[in-house]
Amino acid sequence: MSLRADNIYRFYRAGDEETLAVQGVSLEVTSGEVVVVSGPSGSGKSTLLACLAGTDEPSGGTVWVDGSRMSGRSEAARSALRARHIGTMAQSGNLMPHLTLRDNLRLVRRIGGGKGRVDELLEDLGIADRAKAWPQQLSGGELARASLAVALVNGPGVLLADEPTGELDEATEARLLELIRTRAEAGCAILVASHSRAVRRAADRVLQLEDGRLVA
Ligand SMILES: Nc1ncnc2c1ncn2[C@@H]1O[C@H](COP(=O)(O)OP(=O)(O)OP(=O)(O)O)[C@@H](O)[C@H]1O
Ligand SMILES: [Mg+2]
Repeated sequence: MSLRADNIYRFYRAGDEETLAVQGVSLEVTSGEVVVVSGPSGSGKSTLLACLAGTDEPSGGTVWVDGSRMSGRSEAARSALRARHIGTMAQSGNLMPHLTLRDNLRLVRRIGGGKGRVDELLEDLGIADRAKAWPQQLSGGELARASLAVALVNGPGVLLADEPTGELDEATEARLLELIRTRAEAGCAILVASHSRAVRRAADRVLQLEDGRLVA
């Protein structure tokens, strides 16, 4: 399993204003690896992750998932590829507001073919006691972990996580990083966007983004 980006560009245009959010990024993440994308706020991390996940379409360049082309195809084709291979955790969360945490996970598991263990995952993430809570009743850190649970419940081959530990204390962050490592050891290819020093330390490789470009 691998995720590859070849020369990705993403421009945003608003009137005369053009933002060059991602400028010629190439990278590859393979099975078993934890790669962290770091860089200041506004450097393009979330934009890059969205292009890799296929929830956004790059202005240029190509994304490959497990050897299949993701970019430049229909939204339906991208969704199908994403559903099969990629778990995504967005910075803004990814829970349905009208379902409890446990029902959110059950729904995602059912859509994905139903193999992941919901309660065990909640236990691993330290939020089993919040299983019956509604998303709006969760704290910031609980919501982040719940979103990660959604991303992981179908055992994806690729995990893309945007600031998964942004709102966590050190001990909870360490626990979450352990879980991420365990998933990598089980064969998942993992890309995490984060400013956190602990997350960078836990990575096999760190990619540094500045103004949309990878720097050494
Ligand atoms: N939908 C959009 N329309 C216009 N500009 C955008 C849009 N989304 C992001 N941008 C701009 O693109 C650049 C990169 O944004 P992005 O969200 O990828 O940064 P980031 O590295 O994830 O930042 P943070 O660490 O704050 O999450 C920023 O200048 C941002 O203002
Ligand atoms: Mg971001």
